[in-house]
Amino acid sequence: MYKIVAKKELAPNIYLIEVAAPDVAAKANPGQFVIIRLDDKGERVPLTIAGVDLEKGTVATAFHAVGRTTKKLAKVNAGESIMDFSGPLGNPAEVGKFGKVLLVGGGVWCAPLHYVATTLRKNGNKLVVAAAGRTENDMVYADELKAVSDVFYVATDDGSKGSEGLDFLADVLKSEKFDHAVVMGPVSMLKKVVEMTRPYGLNTMVTLASLMVDGTGMCGACRVTVGGETKFACMDGPEFNGLDVDFDELISRQRVYLPEERMASMIYDKLGGGVKRG
Ligand SMILES: Cc1cc2nc3c(=O)[nH]c(=O)nc-3n(C[C@H](O)[C@H](O)[C@H](O)COP(=O)(O)OP(=O)(O)OC[C@H]3O[C@@H](n4cnc5c(N)ncnc54)[C@H](O)[C@@H]3O)c2cc1C
Ligand code: FES
Repeated sequence: MYKIVAKKELAPNIYLIEVAAPDVAAKANPGQFVIIRLDDKGERVPLTIAGVDLEKGTVATAFHAVGRTTKKLAKVNAGESIMDFSGPLGNPAEVGKFGKVLLVGGGVWCAPLHYVATTLRKNGNKLVVAAAGRTENDMVYADELKAVSDVFYVATDDGSKGSEGLDFLADVLKSEKFDHAVVMGPVSMLKKVVEMTRPYGLNTMVTLASLMVDGTGMCGACRVTVGGETKFACMDGPEFNGLDVDFDELISRQRVYLPEERMASMIYDKLGGGVKRG
């Protein structure tokens, strides 16, 4: 069992948990993920590592309570335990010395982006960071990202804070030359940013949250097409060069279980979130 030693609500339905997992903490790198299970009947949920504390032996991860399992996880309190916390899985993000790096984060993904940004900064890169959220209230990790940025932008879908949407990045890209870009967020956002960086041939690393089951290359659930080849996001990624990713295929594969997911979430809500775990 893995104890949740700290839990914080970062924004409505977005939580940060710190889990006691010294073995995972010792091996973790930015960009990698864990797969959690609440109990022996629970679904496997991949979550990206948002930081580690080697002294405490803890791993932090932020999650958006969007469906049945993440809503159940939102009800697990600090001091309680979950059954599985497997990792670190996947390859680390590229965090070497590039020069000037553009980082773009959306919603809950700003937390793991901060782990990547901190390491890129330590490695001597200059960082231009844009943090985005649906509204001002949905923004997470904006202060933390600002603290590691040389230039910092905020954007919201409704314009309640900073720029309205990410279109302003087109001007940023026109006026400044970047050596590398990293984008973490919903797939539609990854696709949009890549379309803006493509004319400059800017290598734009994106983290692909394709549907995953085992996370170890056995089931094939997470397959994506990158550069015309089939790749497994769990083993070959989850970070890929967005210039090569078939985003439309990824978006349609992510929707495959939408009716079942909506139904499970609805039943969970109707039962007041009071059903037993599993
Ligand atoms: C490598 C990776 C890293 C991720 N990191 C984070 C993170 O740091 N924070 C965060 O909030 N979310 C992250 N996700 C997405 C997260 O795993 C899903 O939101 C979660 O599985 C939803 O489960 P659910 O039962 O609550 O909701 P469901 O109702 O089952 O699903 C809601 C939506 O989540 C996605 N999803 C469902 N099951 C999976 C699955 N097994 N694998 C991937 N996506 C799924 C689908 O798009 C679905 O429409 C990550 C996904 C991957 C693959
Ligand atoms: S999740 Fe099964 S192969 Fe990647």
